[in-house]
Amino acid sequence: MAHNVTLIPGDSVGRELAPMTQRVIAAAGVDVDWDVVEAGTNPFGQSGDPLPPEVFDSIARTGVALKGELKTPQGSGYESPNVRLRKRLDLFATVRPIKVQPGLPGRYDKVDVVVVREATEDVYAGIEHVVVPGVVQSIKVTTKKASDRIIRFAFEYARAHGRKKVTLVHKANIMKKADGLFLACGNAIAGEYADVAYESIIADNACMQLVRDPSRYDVLVTQNLFGDLLGDLGAGLVGGMSNVWGELRNEGGTAVFEAIHGIADALVGTGRANPLPYLRPATALLRHLGEASAADRVDAAIAAAVTAGHKTPDIGGVSTTTEMVDAIIRHLD
Ligand code: IPM
Ligand code: MG
Repeated sequence: MAHNVTLIPGDSVGRELAPMTQRVIAAAGVDVDWDVVEAGTNPFGQSGDPLPPEVFDSIARTGVALKGELKTPQGSGYESPNVRLRKRLDLFATVRPIKVQPGLPGRYDKVDVVVVREATEDVYAGIEHVVVPGVVQSIKVTTKKASDRIIRFAFEYARAHGRKKVTLVHKANIMKKADGLFLACGNAIAGEYADVAYESIIADNACMQLVRDPSRYDVLVTQNLFGDLLGDLGAGLVGGMSNVWGELRNEGGTAVFEAIHGIADALVGTGRANPLPYLRPATALLRHLGEASAADRVDAAIAAAVTAGHKTPDIGGVSTTTEMVDAIIRHLD
């Protein structure tokens, strides 16, 4: 039976990479009935809404989506549709695995850290106002409910994946109330998980320690903004956007697999966009669908193709997107 999956191609090169990803999944022998729904600048241009109702209708039907990155206006304009989707579907838990992948060198040979990021509140609440001209406030929202929920998720994730330690990242020395609450929630919940080690660390120090020796960390749990920063800091440790993806979950079991990079307008139409930022969440999607052996085969095919030199220019090769994807498909057997 075919799996029903929502596909949100995304903006920019996402439009070109989505069909390539569909090809790879089909070649891996997984039957997916894709419900393709547009979000981002296209529907915004047509209807004024970058996240039209069809997107929510589709995900309500399928319960699972693969999503390209959606453009986020800077400084003004509409709220990031990426963020709005997370909030509207209460996709509170973002998991961002930070792992060196075969064939693509990172800064370290062995890194295996998971960033668990709260995705519904913090400064992403989007509450800002001008007090008087020249003075603005941006409100950081922290609730006990959301903090408890993400911290429990991190501990449960650690247990389920045989991980040994949860490190809570905060800035409670400065945001004594907001981050203080988050830290207090962590300190209390840690007591319920005697089998998982627990520690906390101040965010700036966490950045330095992660760069110096990522092997000291296992699962990091953070609020929204630090999770965003640590996710990309981690990506930089393991070879960049080719090796990372995001997995979003809510309490109802809805899962969204996100390409977390994909706005590369200079590459649109050149046929040279790197397909990996889209293929990584796709293999995570396959695992979610119970197609672990197909996911393993795609991962192995990517490693083999990349090792054989089939790479787009951004990762040191000369291949076009199509050549690289063709090579991956050839290596699937
Ligand atoms: C991410 C992105 C988004 C975020 C942007 C595009 C709104 O950086 O998914 O990490 O800040 O969460
Ligand atoms: Mg980010």
